[in-house]
Amino acid sequence: MCGIVGYIGQRDTKEILLKGLEKLEYRGYDSAGIAIMNDEGVHVFKEKGRIADLREVVDGKVASTIGIGHTRWATHGEPSHLNAHPHQSASGRFTLVHNGVIENYVQLTRDYLQDVTLKSDTDTEVVVQVIEQFVESGLEVEEAFRKTLGLLKGSYAIALFDAENKETIYVAKNKSPLLVGLGDTFNVVASDAMAMLQVTNEYVELMDKEMVIVTDKKVVIKNLSGDVMTRASYIAELDAGDIEKGTYPHYMLKEIDEQPLVIRKIVQTYQDENGKLDVPGDVADAVAEADRIYIVACGTSYHAGLVGKQFLETWAGVPTEVYVSSEFSYNMPLLSEKPLFIFLSQSGETADSRSVLVQTNKLGHKALTITNVPGSTLSREADYTLLLHAGPEIAVASTKAYTAQIAVLGILAAIAAGKRDKELSFDLAHELGIVANAMEALCDQKDEMEMIARDYLTVTRNAFFIGRGLDYYVCLEGALKLKEISYIQAEGFAGGELKHGTIALIEDGTPVFALATQEHVNLSIRGNVKEVAARGANPCIISLKGLEEADDQFVLPAAHPALSALASVVPLQLIAYYASLHRGCDVDKPRNLAKSVTVE
Ligand code: F6R
Repeated sequence: MCGIVGYIGQRDTKEILLKGLEKLEYRGYDSAGIAIMNDEGVHVFKEKGRIADLREVVDGKVASTIGIGHTRWATHGEPSHLNAHPHQSASGRFTLVHNGVIENYVQLTRDYLQDVTLKSDTDTEVVVQVIEQFVESGLEVEEAFRKTLGLLKGSYAIALFDAENKETIYVAKNKSPLLVGLGDTFNVVASDAMAMLQVTNEYVELMDKEMVIVTDKKVVIKNLSGDVMTRASYIAELDAGDIEKGTYPHYMLKEIDEQPLVIRKIVQTYQDENGKLDVPGDVADAVAEADRIYIVACGTSYHAGLVGKQFLETWAGVPTEVYVSSEFSYNMPLLSEKPLFIFLSQSGETADSRSVLVQTNKLGHKALTITNVPGSTLSREADYTLLLHAGPEIAVASTKAYTAQIAVLGILAAIAAGKRDKELSFDLAHELGIVANAMEALCDQKDEMEMIARDYLTVTRNAFFIGRGLDYYVCLEGALKLKEISYIQAEGFAGGELKHGTIALIEDGTPVFALATQEHVNLSIRGNVKEVAARGANPCIISLKGLEEADDQFVLPAAHPALSALASVVPLQLIAYYASLHRGCDVDKPRNLAKSVTVE
C-alpha cells in the first residue's frame, strides 16, 4: 500500500528518493511522486504508473538536499497525475505526502476550507490545505501542524515541508507505519527500513499520535501536547542482499525457493540448547492455559491459520477458531472465558487485523502476534510476539511467509501439547527437516510445474482446487495464489461440497486441481475427481507418495501427513507463478493489490 520516503542532508536527494520508492514498490501502488526543494523553490514531479514512469519526468538537472516521496495506492480518487502525491497547499508553500485514510476529510473541508478550491479528489490534500489555513491565521508551522493532527480522524503517516524553511521535514504518524532513520550528516523518513537501507540501518520507531521535527542534524519526537519524547534507536537487521532479486527473474520465484531454508531456520531458532523445540517467554503456557484460541488474520495468513487450527486442536487439544479480521471487527463471536488471540500477519501492519487487536486489548484479552516484521505495529501492541524469520518478503503474493506461519504454529502447538501432557508421538523438528527436504525437491521440479501450468491454465478463464481436510485449506491458498497473480478466476473448494451447487460451473476442459495427501479421505477425494471428470473437467491430481495412483499428474515426496500442507502448497505456488508468466502478467506486482494493507 502507499509508501513514504524523505531525506534531509548533504547529498542530492532525487536518486535517494527514487531508489527508496523502488524499494517500496512491493507494497503495491498505482502512481508515485517526489517533491524536492532548493533556492529556486519547490519542484514536484509525479506520474501515474510505475516508478520507471516517474523517473522519466524527473528533471535530472534540479538538485536539492531535502525531499519527500510517495507511492500511492488509490483510495480517494482514481489513480492519476492529479491525485498522485505530493500535494501542495493553495499558495504552494506547504508540500505533503500521506499514507492512510482521513475519515473526516469532508467535515474538515466544510469547517476550514470553504474558501479554498481543492485541486484533487484526495483526502490528503485537505490536510495540507488546513495546515496552511492555520499558518495564515497566525500559528507557527509546528503549531499549525500539531493542531491539524489533533483534528484528523483515521490513519496517517505524513511527511511535510515548508518552502520557507529548507532545514526541516515535519513528520507524524497514527496507525500507519513510519520510521525515522538516522545518519551522521543526514536523517531520513521511511514507511519501512528497507526503503532507506541504502543510506542507513539505524532507525527510531514512532508511536501513534507522535510528530517529529527532522533536520539534517536532529530528530525531535513530540507527542501531540508538545512534550518531547525520548526513544532509543535500533539497528534494522536487514541485509541489503535480502531485498535484491539476485539472479532470479522475480521475487516470487526467489521466495518460493527460499522456503526449505526458512523452515530449517525456524526449527533452529525455536530450539533450546539441548535441541528441544522451545519458544521464548511464556507464550506456550498462554496457549496451553487458554480455554479457546481465536486466530485472526487476512488472506494468505488466514489460510495458514486454518492449518494452524488443526495443530492446536489435534496436538494441544485447545479448541481453536479462525476468523477473517475484517469480519471479526464488527461481528465478534461470543468469546470464551479465557481466550488467547493469535494475530497472524506477515507484515504486522494489516489494518483489519490491527482493528481487532485494538478491541481485544480493550477487553483485556491476551494476544500473540506471529509476524515476519520485528517492531511492527501488531507486534508492539500484542502481549507476545513470535517471529517468522522468513526474511523480507517482497513479492505481493505471499509464499514463504505462509509456510513459515504454518511451521511456527506447528512448533507452538507441539510445545503447548507437551505442557498439557500430550507429547506428540513423533519428533516434529525431525519431520519438519524431512518436509524441508521435500520442499527442496519440489523446487527442483519447476519444469514439471511449468508444463502443468502451460497445459491446464494458458487459455482457461477459471479453475478449481479441491481437497478434503488439510488439503482443502491448501486448496484455498492455491486458488488465491492463482487468481491474484494470473487473474484466472479460481476457487478453492471442499471436495465434498462441490456437488451441492458449484459443480454446475464445471464445463468441458475446466481445470480442476485435486490434492490427495490425506489417507483417511483419499478415496473420497478421488471420488470427487471422478464426479467432475464425468462432467468434462480436466483434472490434475497431486497426491502424496504412498497414496498415489497410476494416472496422478504429480506425486509429492513422502512427508508426515500432518505437515503435508508445507509440501503440497509448493507446486500450487509454482503453477500459479508459471500461469502468471505465460499469461504475460506482472508476477511480483499484480494489479490492484498491495503488499501491506494499511487501510480497513
Ligand atoms: C496474498 C497475500 C495477502 C496477505 C493479506 C494479509 O498473497 O499476501 O492475502 O496474506 O493481505 O497480510 P498480512 O499477513 O501482512 O497481515
